[in-house]
Amino acid sequence: MSQFDPNLFKLAMRRAATAVSVVTTDGPGGRFGVTVSSFCTATAEPPQMLACVWKTGPAAAAIRENKLFCINVLARSHRHVADSFAGRIERWRNDRFACDQWKTLATGAPVLHEGMIALDCSLVSELELSTHYVFVGHVESVAVNDGVPLLYSDGHYRRMAERDQVSADDLLL
Ligand SMILES: Cc1cc2nc3c(=O)[nH]c(=O)nc-3n(C[C@H](O)[C@H](O)[C@H](O)COP(=O)(O)O)c2cc1C
Repeated sequence: MSQFDPNLFKLAMRRAATAVSVVTTDGPGGRFGVTVSSFCTATAEPPQMLACVWKTGPAAAAIRENKLFCINVLARSHRHVADSFAGRIERWRNDRFACDQWKTLATGAPVLHEGMIALDCSLVSELELSTHYVFVGHVESVAVNDGVPLLYSDGHYRRMAERDQVSADDLLL
């Protein structure tokens, strides 16, 4: 049983800064994408990624059927892509891919044209966890372009200053 206010947990998760991606899929289950901040590397060897996708939305059902997905990690210049795939832009709500240009790599999942990072995966495992599916994918292809990552924290998109590194002087050894 939880020993704390559930709102405190939500506040804690809001406060954390995350990268922002659009997880896309295509195949017999349809072409869909969803804006996702819950993603990370699962293992480096073999190269595997993990993404948590809301169970009831169309993207989760399509990923399960297509057995593939691409994690498109967004640069700050691709904020319109994040908003489109979160259903926040009225004119793109019925065709969210219309927000930008797309190509494919190994699996056939949509890859953002000139996106910062694309991790093109075949589905290797799925875990139904309450409201979400946790998808694990084996990385079949990678594309990388220059860019500054788009961040999200406290309900807002944030920018990272290119040269703003944490100094070693801050360490108490
Ligand atoms: C910055 C950001 C991060 C998000 N992260 C996730 C996530 O990790 N997993 C998820 O299932 N939905 C996430 N969402 C929510 C979905 O993108 C969005 O709610 C979903 O597409 C529902 O929109 P719709 O009902 O218009 O399709 C996130 C939304 C935003 C704006």
